[in-house]
Amino acid sequence: MIKKINEFLIIIAKFFEPEKAHFFALILLKYNFFSKFSSKKKFEFLNTSFFNVKINNPIGVAAGFDKNGEAIRGIFNLGVGIVEIGAVTPKPQYGNERPRIFRLNEDNALINRLGFNNQGMIKIKKNIKKYNHGVLGINVGANKDSNDKVSDFIEVISYFSKEVDYFTINISSPNTHMLRSLQKKENLDELLKRINSNNEEKKINKPILIKISPDLDDEELKTIVKLCQIHKIAGIVATNTTVNRDFNFISKNSQKSGGLSGKPLFQKSNIILAKLYFLSKGTIPLVGVGGIFNGQDAYKKICLGATTVQLYTALTYNGPILLNKILDEMNTLVKKDGFSNISEAVGSKNFQFLMDETDRSIFG
Ligand code: FNR
Repeated sequence: MIKKINEFLIIIAKFFEPEKAHFFALILLKYNFFSKFSSKKKFEFLNTSFFNVKINNPIGVAAGFDKNGEAIRGIFNLGVGIVEIGAVTPKPQYGNERPRIFRLNEDNALINRLGFNNQGMIKIKKNIKKYNHGVLGINVGANKDSNDKVSDFIEVISYFSKEVDYFTINISSPNTHMLRSLQKKENLDELLKRINSNNEEKKINKPILIKISPDLDDEELKTIVKLCQIHKIAGIVATNTTVNRDFNFISKNSQKSGGLSGKPLFQKSNIILAKLYFLSKGTIPLVGVGGIFNGQDAYKKICLGATTVQLYTALTYNGPILLNKILDEMNTLVKKDGFSNISEAVGSKNFQFLMDETDRSIFG
């Protein structure tokens, strides 16, 4: 029955423009329509923790899915361990002109150029208060018209310091002018310094992660890892969407401008993830995001070095039933590999992957 409802909703969704379809999905989630979609089954091999908070499993819903924190309870009820809302900016903003999300149906992908549309931190704090439970993170953004993006990040972190469990600084969205330049050495150094000093001053001790682009080269990755170590950054989310279009696309929407997510991103984000794990010698907790469509994909990211994973695009193509399927498949894979818990699998295939599936440049 649940499978039939899920299939029906996927068919209906295709009749709507992607942003409208997503809007309806969030309403259903907000009113807990999908509460029966998660099984009561316990996934005994998937219990883990995220920055010392115990979670039932390492699966999270990625930033952008619930930008305004309106459906947190409904999303947790699908069975995920982590929800990252946002990106949240200090002031509300409309974002770019519509249409700004494009389906690449034949490629199982999306291109979006939303541009941090969100209700702003004051309204979003009220949304969160109604539903807060589980491991909740905020993806921190900056307003389009801001002259000092770091001060926007600081404002959002300070405003939510008691509300959420962690923060992800988004320095990798391709849809806000110059945001990605914050990944450059001098800018990132300054950014992390300022965030740390604000946190010290205000006694904010929530984990701060940064979210990076899949379009970085080895030198840039080395710099990022080094700076994260120097500034004691809690973790790295790898990755955001890509502006690269060097894939064998079938869909007519493939050349739209914006950030590409979904299946074509999988290998590209895996390479970044594996390199980060290798460069940091496994000392920096990593969140693996990009192109997860099944349990095998999610498990692969764990084996490459992620401690937790997130997804977005696959949910829009497969509906909420997917999460339970992923959990079930992951649980089986952990058992099959002879681990007693998913945490033992972290990084287990990192070296082999770098040898077999990359140009090995990272060893140079
Ligand atoms: C995103 N993503 C995103 N990331 C982020 O850090 N802040 C954001 O506000 C958004 N917004 C957003 C909107 C839409 C419509 C999409 C499709 C994606 C990126 C997202 O969190 C994730 O990193 C990528 O989509 C890759 O994962 P998937 O979708 O391939 O599982």
